[in-house]
Amino acid sequence: MNATQARTWQRQLEEKIRTRTARVGIVGLGYVGLPLAVEFARAGFGVTGIDVTVSKVERVNAGDSYVLDVPSGTLGPLVSAGALRATRSFSAVAELDTINICVPTPLRKSKDPDMSYIDAACREIAQYIHPGMLIILESTTYPGTTDEFVLPLLEKTGLRVGEDFFLCFSPERVDPGNPKYQTTNIPKVVGGITPACTELGTLFYSQALETVVPVSSTKVAEMVKLLENTYRMINIGLVNELALMCDRMDINVWEIIDAAATKPFGFMPFYPGPGLGGHCIPIDPFYLSWKTKQSGIEARFIELAGYINGNMPHFVVDKIQTALNNHSKPVNGARIHVVGVAYKRNIDDMRESPALDVILLLRKRGAVISYSDPYVPHLKLDGITLDSTPLLDSAANADCVVIVTDHADFDYRGLIASSKLIVDTRNAMKAFASEKIVRL
Ligand SMILES: NC(=O)c1ccc[n+]([C@@H]2O[C@H](COP(=O)([O-])OP(=O)(O)OC[C@H]3O[C@@H](n4cnc5c(N)ncnc54)[C@H](O)[C@@H]3O)[C@@H](O)[C@H]2O)c1
Repeated sequence: MNATQARTWQRQLEEKIRTRTARVGIVGLGYVGLPLAVEFARAGFGVTGIDVTVSKVERVNAGDSYVLDVPSGTLGPLVSAGALRATRSFSAVAELDTINICVPTPLRKSKDPDMSYIDAACREIAQYIHPGMLIILESTTYPGTTDEFVLPLLEKTGLRVGEDFFLCFSPERVDPGNPKYQTTNIPKVVGGITPACTELGTLFYSQALETVVPVSSTKVAEMVKLLENTYRMINIGLVNELALMCDRMDINVWEIIDAAATKPFGFMPFYPGPGLGGHCIPIDPFYLSWKTKQSGIEARFIELAGYINGNMPHFVVDKIQTALNNHSKPVNGARIHVVGVAYKRNIDDMRESPALDVILLLRKRGAVISYSDPYVPHLKLDGITLDSTPLLDSAANADCVVIVTDHADFDYRGLIASSKLIVDTRNAMKAFASEKIVRL
């Protein structure tokens, strides 16, 4: 491949992107991939989503969204107009010009990165990759993944990066349930293996997203995401530790944070809670600590924050037990109603939700558990299935109510009237003063 041919591929792809005739592919149609597919379809591109989960492919093709931030009213017309379709078959890659990889990156039990999803997706793509393609990894991962792990899989085909195809990393920053910031108006960081890769990646995103921030390499782009998530994880660890201290000293931690947040510079409020949930905050920093360990550096802040945050469900359960004891009620046999089980407010995502730990720990101590969550009608754990029950009736029948997730549409005023005892892990009852409320 000579430099002139490489330049030609780049120019051709630029032209297709500018004229929005580039055929866009999104691999992995989950919380990240589906909103992205919708944005590019809305921008006028023909989009093909590839996912291994049959039910998701069927629902996308029926215009029926399973992601809260993507209304079916938005998805349906794009599918009907032929702007967006889904398939299980990677043979579609042969017809595509660009691919965004948005597959899961969980941790193994050992807390090592589970790269099997990226590996599987890249091996499939490699079967159909062709010259002139732009491939962008979006899955959160350790620094070095794009050039050490993805690139060799794609170059095994004999094609060369920066010449025959272009490869970038662009961290996904979506915040499910955030009404203000969604895929289109969250600035998009992108870094390529070569300058030509970065140029193409920047051009590509700027067609559908408001702000694109090019950086000098894939490693920088990967590290940006890990800094953002590690920053949150550590600061949450700090306020969780503060909450433990305040509990000992009988000081209201929430009041302290609110007052500190009146400082107009140099302070950003983070809040304590029952533990970390979701993918980004509890898991991603361990991708960084795993990687740095290989260079002989212990990521001590991450390990410490992970330890403190991981202990919060235990602290909450101790707090419930003490509150019950103060009402002369043993936890063994107590009826405890959990309010909110999703990992954060106003969403339906249960991944890593601290509610699961709280429920399991309470069951171990002999409590009888019920729960309410309008976003999570059924909950499977420990070999049993629980169904969400009506909030106020259930609260009235319980010895103790514990607020784990502060969804906006719960009737908190009604909860005070109905409950005997409320352990509030989210400061959801901030507006109310009552002897019944025990705050974190
Ligand atoms: N959910 C978030 O809030 C969020 C925010 C920022 C970054 N991320 C990152 O984005 C990535 C995706 O997360 P998500 O929340 O969208 O996950 P998800 O589980 O909602 O979606 C992933 C999708 O990929 C599909 N999939 C799995 N293996 C595949 C394969 N080999 N080929 C094709 N499809 C495959 C799954 O069926 C699923 O639909 C992760 O790395 C995550 O850390 C997530």
